[in-house]
Amino acid sequence: MGSQEPMLFGTQRINAAGHLEIGGCDTVALAQEFGTPLYVLDEEHIRQRCRCYRQAFRDRLPEVEVAYAGKALLVSALCRIVEQEGLALDVASAGELYTALQTNFPPARIKLHGNFKSDQELLMALRESVGRVVLDSLTEIQRLSALAQAEGREVPVLMRVAPGIKTQTHTFIQTGQLDSKFGLGLATSAAREGVRLTLESPGLKLRGLHCHIGSQLFGLDAFQKTAELMVEFMSQIRDECGVVLEELDLGGGLGISYTPEDTPPTIAELADIISSGLRATCEQFDYPLPRLILEPGRSIVGTAGTTLYRVGPVKEIPGVRTYVAVDGGLSDNPRPALYDAEYTAIIANKADQPSTQPVRVAGKHCETDTLLAEVTLQPVEEGDLMAVFSTGAYNYSMASNYNRFCRPAMVLVGEGRAEVIVERESLEDLVAQDVIPERLR
Ligand code: LLP
Repeated sequence: MGSQEPMLFGTQRINAAGHLEIGGCDTVALAQEFGTPLYVLDEEHIRQRCRCYRQAFRDRLPEVEVAYAGKALLVSALCRIVEQEGLALDVASAGELYTALQTNFPPARIKLHGNFKSDQELLMALRESVGRVVLDSLTEIQRLSALAQAEGREVPVLMRVAPGIKTQTHTFIQTGQLDSKFGLGLATSAAREGVRLTLESPGLKLRGLHCHIGSQLFGLDAFQKTAELMVEFMSQIRDECGVVLEELDLGGGLGISYTPEDTPPTIAELADIISSGLRATCEQFDYPLPRLILEPGRSIVGTAGTTLYRVGPVKEIPGVRTYVAVDGGLSDNPRPALYDAEYTAIIANKADQPSTQPVRVAGKHCETDTLLAEVTLQPVEEGDLMAVFSTGAYNYSMASNYNRFCRPAMVLVGEGRAEVIVERESLEDLVAQDVIPERLR
């Protein structure tokens, strides 16, 4: 990347002091008040993305539910925002379900996912009357049926199908192909068997089908093809079992910009392709238009998050490169290490200066935790503040305590206000679960 205008999202702007500002808050002041590393979340941007999803699909289809995929980022304050914006919520564990429930998120608007839900998780979903459980395997169908009967309840379910679509994204986040741990294969008899088993299992009420083909997707064709395949399968179920399934959940997956080279489709373009694919296939198979469910995660919160780091030692290795250390890394953002993910950054306290210095940004963990392999920054020195963009999704939610680092705080910014929504972990927090057996005391 050469010297160019920084890529700004949502309410981000460069203020008169030449500093990066988000939600009307100067990031230099945020770092001073709350410390670093710091996750900064742009409230207005998140709300706009929620509204944009709902509006785009409602304009094109009669019945649509947008469920935010909590795995991207789930903290209590965000549950409140998503709830206020009228979205439903996807959870993928007891922990995510608990997080949502204790904010009084309406259980009827929650869906429970997972390729291996424990009995405890299924029971929690049953007892709390969550809106849908998304079945993922034949044995889970049997287990949930038994639990539902024991509890004397009937549970509305979707069944997850692996539609056999291979997407253009990192192999770790491709999930719709046949060779996947998720769902029941369309190409084999597994999906058919799953539908039959669910239909005849007491305590389960099959409302529809689910699929999720992958994440950080830029190609729209895969979404269209998936919509078509799924409706075709639903029409086969109608013909073979005499049941008209009314819901179709197409999962999440829309990509976002991490670098200026990333040009994802807009939400409106996604809505166009899915709605036209659905309409055409429903017409072709004379199938009633299903109630559509979507599960965006990254494309709701990704670009709303920015991580602020304090710059440490800057080491110039003559003839090789310049290394810039920051006070976080692998523990607050494992994505570069896991997926070779690329990011964009600026020096937040010199945001109005041209970026002319090619560097590599590394974290402070005891290994080669490169955050940005090659980036051109404003002239950088120790003590500067670095802002890394598009860290709202799969950063805090995948953070760890590696090297016994304390997980950073998170602030929600908007209209010049900054409020802590996740406290910075303390050293005491780090040892809170440790136990020294009596004999070692
Ligand atoms: N629904 C289901 C069933 C999913 O498995 C996922 C993501 C989503 C929805 C939301 O997908 P999104 O709209 O966020 O792409 N840790 C990886 C991403 C893993 C995605 C897992 N499933 C990363 O950092 O890229």
